[in-house]
Amino acid sequence: MGFPRHRPRRLRRTPALRGLVRETDLAPRHLIAPLFVKEGVRDPVPIDSMPGQLQHTLDSLRKEANEIASRGVPAFMLFGIPARKDEEGSEAWNPQGIAQRALRVLRQELGDDHVVIADLCLDEYTSHGHCGVLDDEGNVDNDRTLERYRRIALAQAEAGADLVGPSGMMDGQVGQIRDALDASGFERVGILAYAAKFASSLYGPFRDAAECAPRFGDRTGYQMDPPNADEAIREIRADIEEGADVVMVKPALPYLDVVRRAKDETRFPLAAYNVSGEYAMVKAAAQNGWIDGRRATLEILTSIRRAGADLILTYHAKEAADWLAGA
Ligand code: PBG
Repeated sequence: MGFPRHRPRRLRRTPALRGLVRETDLAPRHLIAPLFVKEGVRDPVPIDSMPGQLQHTLDSLRKEANEIASRGVPAFMLFGIPARKDEEGSEAWNPQGIAQRALRVLRQELGDDHVVIADLCLDEYTSHGHCGVLDDEGNVDNDRTLERYRRIALAQAEAGADLVGPSGMMDGQVGQIRDALDASGFERVGILAYAAKFASSLYGPFRDAAECAPRFGDRTGYQMDPPNADEAIREIRADIEEGADVVMVKPALPYLDVVRRAKDETRFPLAAYNVSGEYAMVKAAAQNGWIDGRRATLEILTSIRRAGADLILTYHAKEAADWLAGA
């Protein structure tokens, strides 16, 4: 019997050898931490379905952002939860609205050393919970919604956002927002486009966190149908043509094939959103002792990088940064 000539196990023998031939790196600099800020609460409110995550006050937001920043995480995605919702979602563009106030706090606190991104959508702000304004039949009216998105972009730019992140999946949203920003002298403000956002079952915990579950119907009329990958690439290309600076695939894990194709076919800066349901599954299983939460998290985040994402939005950002530092 001939002995094997090829012995891949040689390079697996020690941590040093494995490190030497490691193909994918994962570091705090690849992470973006989503944060929630809620209007009208005195203390931060824990989110039951997202262990470790909170609806912040302005004060606790400031502290948490500093904690995360000190671990080498370079960027934040901010979601506001207003005290008052209406049909139109008008708090979304109120200069004194909670999201704009929080943007100013973060800008002031972090200066230009960190990147502050504002989620740009209406579902947290509308009484019906949809991502746009409704027509007489209760459907989301695409073009009237775009007018609102333009206003939100300006309010967020004025409050100091480096990037705005349109997440409503309205047709033409990136072009309209780019146009509104440029027309008001905000050429420097960029767009991180939720370009391929799927109608996923994995947003449930986020809808608790952001108090934005639709009161009726669902989002299948605007978010993408999960089986479609070619269409995702078309959406991504369209957003790049309309002026996106970074494009995103969301959720991450069930769509790693889309992440890989998006990177290969566009070579554009690419983010993936490791969403609330993905986070909740890991936390629930780890709390039960069914998986090792730390190993599972780092394996998952590495897989998203390996699939081709430059950046990962993840609720694990703070703990992952600690683990990566060997804490
Ligand atoms: C919409 C928005 C959602 C998420 C981010 N932006 C919810 C939705 O589309 O229903 C989900 C993020 C997550 O699940 O972590 N503004």
